Amino acid sequence: MAIVAPSLLASDFLNLERECTMLNESEAEWFHLDVMDGQFVPNISFGIPVIEKIRKATNKVCDVHLMILTPEHLTEAFKKAGADILTVHIEACTHLHRNIQQIKSLGMKAGVAINPHTPVSTLADVLHDIDVVCMMSVNPGFGGQKFIPHTLEKIKQLRKMIDERGANVLIEIDGGVTLENAPEIVAAGADVLVAGNTVFSASDPKGMIAKLKSL
Ligand code: DX5
Ligand code: ZN
Repeated sequence: MAIVAPSLLASDFLNLERECTMLNESEAEWFHLDVMDGQFVPNISFGIPVIEKIRKATNKVCDVHLMILTPEHLTEAFKKAGADILTVHIEACTHLHRNIQQIKSLGMKAGVAINPHTPVSTLADVLHDIDVVCMMSVNPGFGGQKFIPHTLEKIKQLRKMIDERGANVLIEIDGGVTLENAPEIVAAGADVLVAGNTVFSASDPKGMIAKLKSL
């Protein structure tokens, strides 16, 4: 059974408290919070003050996905805002290993995200240092995009690499996850399903989360 991590990027920002209550009552385990800087990705979303408020509205895991350059400058601020998991992009980190150590030393779980063009092999030398790989199945920056089919192959490669090395790492798939493609994503070896539009555009979001959970 996969962990379901609804992405609040697709939620109704005018009714954020209601959206948080809905997720609290649902079977979702994680809140996926997408932070964009308009530099690393061609879009801006929300940041620290909004995450502080969301933190007060839930006891569930706050999974913060940083799509920003030089994330090391803000690691402490995101810890203070209430992040449980802090994920940085491999493409945005010159000193990835140092960034991971910084995240862990502050008591958070560390995630590394890879873009669709980044091979799984680039994770080899940090696999034992991290808790989550966030594999992008769309180009980051926007919700509601179409799942890139080649991701399935990458999930299988990463699953094999994790199992062979005995690493304790979750595979999180982010972008274009639907009820239709989720079964093959899970079958390929994913542990965590991020879902933005699939959850928040559903007529019954809690029911949709339950369906994703039951796969
Ligand atoms: C994309 C974000 C995703 C996005 C997923 O840049 O990292 O988390 O919100 O949204 P959907 O599920 O709608 O593709
Ligand atoms: Zn994300």
